[in-house]
Amino acid sequence: MAEIKNPTSGPSTAAADEAHIAVHWKEEEYFYPQKKFIEQANLKDPKVVERFGEKNFPKCFEEYADMLTWSQRWTTVLDANDPPFWKWFVGGKLNASYNCVDRHLEKYKNKAAIISVPEPENEEPAVITYQELYKRVNETAALLRDFAGLKKGDRVTIHMPMIPELPITMLACARLGVIHSVVFGGFSGEACGMRAADSGSRVLIYADSYYRSGKLIDHKAAVEIAVETAKRDGQEIDKVLVWRRYPGKYGSATPMVKGRDFFVDEVMKDFRGKTIEPVTVDAEDPLFLMYTSGSTGKPKGCQHRTGGYLAYVTGTAKYYQDIHPEDVYWCMADIGWITGHSYIVYGPLALAATSVIYEGVPNYPDAGRPWRIAERLDVNIFHTSPTAIRMLRKAGPHEPGKYHYHFKHMTTVGEPIEPEVWRWYYDVVGKREAVIVDTWWQTETGGILCSTKPALDPMKPGSAGPGVLGIYPIIYDENGEELPAGAGRAGNICIRNPWPGIEQTIWKDRDRFTRQYYQKYCKDPKSKDWHDWPYFAGDGALLAKDGYFRILGRVDDVINVAGHRLGTKELESACLTIEEVAEAAVVPVVDEIKGRVPEIYISLKPGVTASPKDVSDKVIRTIETMIGKIARPKTVHIVPDMPKTRSGKLMRRILAAISNTLDVGDITTLANPDVVEQIRVQVQGKQKLAAKEGPEDVKRFGSDV
Ligand code: WTA
Repeated sequence: MAEIKNPTSGPSTAAADEAHIAVHWKEEEYFYPQKKFIEQANLKDPKVVERFGEKNFPKCFEEYADMLTWSQRWTTVLDANDPPFWKWFVGGKLNASYNCVDRHLEKYKNKAAIISVPEPENEEPAVITYQELYKRVNETAALLRDFAGLKKGDRVTIHMPMIPELPITMLACARLGVIHSVVFGGFSGEACGMRAADSGSRVLIYADSYYRSGKLIDHKAAVEIAVETAKRDGQEIDKVLVWRRYPGKYGSATPMVKGRDFFVDEVMKDFRGKTIEPVTVDAEDPLFLMYTSGSTGKPKGCQHRTGGYLAYVTGTAKYYQDIHPEDVYWCMADIGWITGHSYIVYGPLALAATSVIYEGVPNYPDAGRPWRIAERLDVNIFHTSPTAIRMLRKAGPHEPGKYHYHFKHMTTVGEPIEPEVWRWYYDVVGKREAVIVDTWWQTETGGILCSTKPALDPMKPGSAGPGVLGIYPIIYDENGEELPAGAGRAGNICIRNPWPGIEQTIWKDRDRFTRQYYQKYCKDPKSKDWHDWPYFAGDGALLAKDGYFRILGRVDDVINVAGHRLGTKELESACLTIEEVAEAAVVPVVDEIKGRVPEIYISLKPGVTASPKDVSDKVIRTIETMIGKIARPKTVHIVPDMPKTRSGKLMRRILAAISNTLDVGDITTLANPDVVEQIRVQVQGKQKLAAKEGPEDVKRFGSDV
């Protein structure tokens, strides 16, 4: 295919999205899996494609559901009578914790379920066998039920770092039918409190501290703000349970509030050795909520069902990640994101694998760390994001070669991967032995949507591959016309059919669910036929002649920073809480390591006397407090005015073009065309200056300070 000249279709006046600034890649060559891999693969029968073909839909998904143990078999595979609220495996009953723990005891009780690697290298990895996991999940479930008073259907918010108590707590919730809502540890207390209120959690589960880049972080410090924020939003928190990084030794400077805060290791004394029958739930009972950023200022709670979700992640982990019980599997993501839920906890544990979790940052104390961990634990399946790969490649391009590990399989997820980076992953990290799957999917989709089948399809750097088994993707242009394979034009990728991993709804917001994902391409809102309800993913993509999808990035107000999803509206709302700020606009900027980073444009209210540096500092502080450090902007530009149409629409597209040194296009219809040139000179002129000066801080805090 020729180079893509116009990566998105249709004119869009205000577009400032990722897909519009996507890098233009050329068509790449194929790479083939090794014979040795193919021979041992879970999925090596090419007939599987036919089994999961449309003619066998939705029954084909019974193949995944049959990988689980059910206390009662379903009567209907898919109930599509109330579009777009699909029901899967209706009538079926099961328990997720039973499926991830109890059922493995017979064959695997002495096998490692979780190996937890602390960040300090002088602390040994902790091995938790399936028997031990069983005990600890039971004790924790007993504590949650009898001490915290939690029962089926209650929600609980978990704000914890990557320590083994996190998956243990999740599985304990699942054992009781309690709906967990895990908030990524790097989010602020305020972000946690907001989510706790939205989900209606009266119990928060925390950790006191954890290691990050060699420092013991005081995590419990976030609790007061979380509790206050939840209260402001109408939710009382009556218990805060605190896991201590070192039982008996409190690693936080903040006081425990009497009657509200409890150390889990102390309370646990009453629950030692207790076992709890797993609570059998309906396939459609929710398993968890996961908040993610969307097009509005408020993150939405993606609600995932128990049966369909667990079946889908188990099936895809088995077929696409090739997980066998004998494998040592390490996904370097954080459990606080959907990747960690599906492909560190639920998928791998349902398959009786050994799942490695690592507390810290990949390059601590140096860029050889991941490969030392892989060598020591004999990891043979590895999973990470393009950002981590770029970072490790930059910091230690030859490090992998120094260690004696052998991966048979590697996954990448979260962002498009540049072919050049893919090749380093393949040649140097995978040592040309490992097959790679580039998996495209989303928080909402529960599991993988596009990927190559590792033993059956060739890999193509930079392309995710075809739709996975039972997923029928399609690309539509803005007018709802299908863009066929090889069209050479990008459009919006959609999934034509329902699947078991799709979220049930947005927590307490059915309308938003329908509006956000189905309104755009719904053929008939009255239709009861699923064929009329394609799922709109919000990503721009191209379909090559060979049926492989290449994902370009978001077409909405979401920015994928280092594979983490941020809503530009969330950042803008945070800026608008600052009294000096009149208007704020956030745009994505291409970044060598993180893929994309947010850049902020601010115009000030008339008469403001504060210096640009003070305002800029305030913006950064506010974002860190309201959202978290991960949302920290690369630059804050204080501009004289925002480019606007005559009707007053703020033209983010123009700001995005300036930030990415692209052509600003036609600006003659603007109300204030002159300001564009002023901003361009201010931003691009000074960017060069900052780059020349070099120090990281100048670049990070921007050229306006
Ligand atoms: C992006 C993460 C290109 C995409 C599982 C999507 C990708 C968003 C890929 C979802 C990939 C994810 N190639 N882009 N392999 N995987 N994305 O909800 O823009 O955190 O919409 O889920 O990440 O991010 P989320």
